[in-house]
Amino acid sequence: MTKILELNTDNIQSFVTEQELADLQSKVDRCHQDLESGQGKGSEFLGWLHLPSQTTPGPLKEIEKSALWIRENCDAFVSIGIGGSFLGAKAAIDFGKHTFFNQCSPSTRNGPEILFAGQNISSDYLHDLLSILEDKQVCLNVISKSGTTTEPAIAFRLLKQFMEKKYGSDGARKRIFVTTDPEKGALKQMADEEGYQRFIIPGDVGGRYSVLTPVGLLPISVAGLDIQELISGAMECEQQTSQHSVLDQNSAYRYAVVRNLLLQKGKTIELMAAFHPALQTVVEWWRQLAGESEGKGGKGVFPATAEYTVDLHSLGQWVQEGNRIIFETFLRVAASNRLVEITQSKEDRDGLNYLAGRSLDEVNEKAWQGTAQAHLEGGVPNMTLTVKDRTAHSLGYLFYFFQRAIAMTGSMMGVNPFDQPGVEFYKNNMFRLLNKPGYGKDK
Ligand code: PA5
Repeated sequence: MTKILELNTDNIQSFVTEQELADLQSKVDRCHQDLESGQGKGSEFLGWLHLPSQTTPGPLKEIEKSALWIRENCDAFVSIGIGGSFLGAKAAIDFGKHTFFNQCSPSTRNGPEILFAGQNISSDYLHDLLSILEDKQVCLNVISKSGTTTEPAIAFRLLKQFMEKKYGSDGARKRIFVTTDPEKGALKQMADEEGYQRFIIPGDVGGRYSVLTPVGLLPISVAGLDIQELISGAMECEQQTSQHSVLDQNSAYRYAVVRNLLLQKGKTIELMAAFHPALQTVVEWWRQLAGESEGKGGKGVFPATAEYTVDLHSLGQWVQEGNRIIFETFLRVAASNRLVEITQSKEDRDGLNYLAGRSLDEVNEKAWQGTAQAHLEGGVPNMTLTVKDRTAHSLGYLFYFFQRAIAMTGSMMGVNPFDQPGVEFYKNNMFRLLNKPGYGKDK
């Protein structure tokens, strides 16, 4: 039976030995114990750890019910959020749905277009978004754990006013869905006062670990992906990775340990390269997960992302021959949803007849193998993660795999993988420069 996710570490063997991995087994066992018993740093944010197996059908049905109402009552769904409150849902939709989802006909899509807001501070972006919403039936889902993040708060203020102008206060109320903390924050208070339907982000689940809560599940379900399957895939990975910490049997931990060892050997950058366009946002989601979880106290692998083969024509030269401080992880899908074959041409002016009858996937596979070999020979250790297919089940597995792996890497580095204190620095400066009350005056 094909595994849902396969980790291949053959191309790290000249950099990291099996003995070095084995030497870290006892440290892995300790970190695993800390995670499972809630003894490690940041243990107040371990709600994600057994979330899949603790998710009951009731809340999922509730989300599906709202998603169905949204699908039947709007043709544009705007998800407002940033960081962990946006990337997971976008990753899932890009992974599981049609490549040109928003451009598909409404009947093919069988639901609304999905748009995102609140992930930047741009007049042009918001202006253009509002202008395309003008003649559409719209629903909003504003997502913020803290309920106070500036980017989504600004977008929500403007979109809420747009909705109230379009539908009146009562009409807008039915079309605005809020996902936030159960107890605190401006957004929670606003939802209570306005009477918006509210979904809860558990207090013990941090933003970048929240894709399997309503943060991700509502937009994902609106897009028509099966959230029960997503959770069941995550649960399968949860069960496998919580049972064994032995590196031979736990590939999430093996991946984590290889990253740690490569970092110790001066490979400070991990380039996660997606070998399928549907994985592009998944690697962006991973980048946030890894970057915010590890990058503190002068530690952490720098998480960079690329999409291959397109970036082989931009970054490829650097990876092959640049500063040798990099390792790569290739993320692939074994089975595409559809196979497109290269056709015969009578003239063969482009010289491609040697590929006739073969699928683009076959060519892409050889591109991956060729790249892995070339980069290894250029001094870049690399690993490959191959996900079986583009189903919700496999994606749930993949999401959980990375959460578990990054929590392990952070624990091994001795940092708190679940906080992000450094993010406040830019905010404080921005608030001071904007003369926000309580932040001092800009000179
Ligand atoms: O991982 C995290 O906690 C952060 O990256 C948050 O997801 C991000 O800052 C958005 O925060 P919030 O959901 O509170 O608006």
